[in-house]
Order: sequence, then structure tokens, then C-alpha cells
Amino acid sequence: MTKSILISRGLSPEALSIIPKDVNVDLNGHERPLAREELLGRLRGKDGLVCQITDAIDEELLSTPGLKVVSNVAVGYNNIDVAAAKRRGVTITNTPDVLTDTTADFAWALLMAAARRVTEADRYARSGAWKSWKWDLLWGLDVHGKTLGVLGFGRIGRAVARRALGFDMRVLYHDVARSTPEIERELKATFVDKDTLLREADFVSLHVLLSQDTRHLIDERALRSMKKTAVLVNAARGPIVDEAALVRALSEQWIAAAGLDVFEEEPTIHPGLLPLANVVMAPHIASASFDTRLAMSTLAVKNCLAVIEGKPALTPIT
Ligand code: DGY
Repeated sequence: MTKSILISRGLSPEALSIIPKDVNVDLNGHERPLAREELLGRLRGKDGLVCQITDAIDEELLSTPGLKVVSNVAVGYNNIDVAAAKRRGVTITNTPDVLTDTTADFAWALLMAAARRVTEADRYARSGAWKSWKWDLLWGLDVHGKTLGVLGFGRIGRAVARRALGFDMRVLYHDVARSTPEIERELKATFVDKDTLLREADFVSLHVLLSQDTRHLIDERALRSMKKTAVLVNAARGPIVDEAALVRALSEQWIAAAGLDVFEEEPTIHPGLLPLANVVMAPHIASASFDTRLAMSTLAVKNCLAVIEGKPALTPIT
């Protein structure tokens, strides 16, 4: 029987081009995500769904008769009710590995920009206010030789730590499970408890998955325990940080600065962050390089095709 898939939002044309001609493709060609009712309606009769993090995939959607696979174009999958998918026998896939280095690069871009005030400097340079070289202009924080704390030591957290080797940094990490001695040696990383990491790190970079356990992992107490000179980087998921508490921390200088790619209520940004000079913000683009977005969409399409053809998914969420 002819297979049908729904692609909830535009993907790289090269990724779409690998779909065999005998698979029916229903593609949302609009810029906007499909509204829930549209998603529900258009999913009817489909064998597979390729979706994005803006699609909330709940039990009702997962109960669509005949649906075999939901393939998320992202490594994070907090937009999908994985437990319901298990109950319904629907395979869920994500896009690990292909975005690890690109995301780690961007976490570093935020870290460097926040520490060395790059976006403030850019605004100043454009403003016409620069009249002469000034020895005390826009001082920032050194990165080299400082302590990096990585919270969440999966693929991306480890890639962030690896980059710190080039900056002669001391690396502390925390995760629910300790890494192997080989990895610790290779990355010169020391396992510590979360409180020690927050207390001792000059830069705290977040790389945990969003779950009930990690929602507001960085709350007022955590922020108050960090150094006054510390920089917080979040390129994971917005709700890991209590954004209202972060606004107070940055305004009242409990910490020095932050670099944020993600927000609690995307695309809304807490209004208290907008006027602050000590925060660098980006609209959830850490994995957005040409090569990586192509690799992510290709992998997502391959996952979907594999399952509807009765083969194992390449990167299922287990
Ligand atoms: C991910 O992959 O989870 C990103 O947040 C979206 O690219």
C-alpha cells in the first residue's frame, strides 16, 4: 500500500529530495507551525510524521490510527509525550550527533560574547559614540585559565568541555551519572556535585535535557550560589532556568552576565531581560549552521522512511 507522511514544516530541499516518489508527502509549506487542529486533521491516514520542536505531540496525536513513527528534527524531544508513544507503539526518533559540534560551538560563541561584551561593543562601534581609543573602554572577563562548569555531560556537554582544553581551563562537570575515567582523562574534567560546580565555576554552561527533574534547575538559590563574576550559558532548553530569577540575578549583579539561546516561553522573552546590557541573546539557533540543519533534516527524513518501510530507525529514542 502507498505510504504517506506529513512534514509539519519546511525542511532542506536536499532532505526532501531523498523521499522516494512512491511515498505521498503532505508538506506544510507555510512559515508558521500547524495549529493543533490542523496537525490532528492532516495526520489522519499518515504512516509517519516529521515534526519540529514547535509541534506539541501528545497522546491524542499519537493515537492516530496507522501512525508508526514521529521523527523530530531536533536532538531534544521534550515536545513529545514519549511515554504515550511507547503505550501506542509509535517509534520516536531524534537527531543526535549531527548537531553536537555546531551546538557546542554556539555555546562557546555565547560564552565568549557575554564574557568579552561583544554585542555591547558592536552596538557602541555602530553608535558613533567612539571618539578615540580609551584604555578603560568595555572591560570584560578573561576566559582562558578560568574554571568552566558543565552541567549535563552528554554529547554536547562533553564537546563544550573539549573546547575548553584550548583555553587552558579547569573543567568541572556534573551529571546524574559519572563519566568514564577515559573521558575524564581525555577532557581533563573533574566530576563534582552540582553545588560545588555552581560555587566554583567562572562559566556555567547548561547541557541537560528538559524534564520534570531539570525544570528550574537554575533557580534563585542556584544563581545566588554562583560567583558574582560568573557567566551563565544556556543553549539547552529555556525552562531549565527560572527566567524571572535570572532577570533579578543579572539586574542586581548576583552574577556578571549570561548568554542565552533559549527561553522559558519561546518566542516570548521575559521583558526584564530586554534592557539588560549584560545578557547576550539569540533566537534558539545553536544548531543553525547550513551543514548541520541539512544533516538534521536528512537524518529526520531517513528515520521516518526507515520505520514506514518496516526497518529499524537509525536514531530511535529508547
Ligand atoms: C535541538 O536539536 O534540540 C535544538 O534545540 C533544536 O535544533
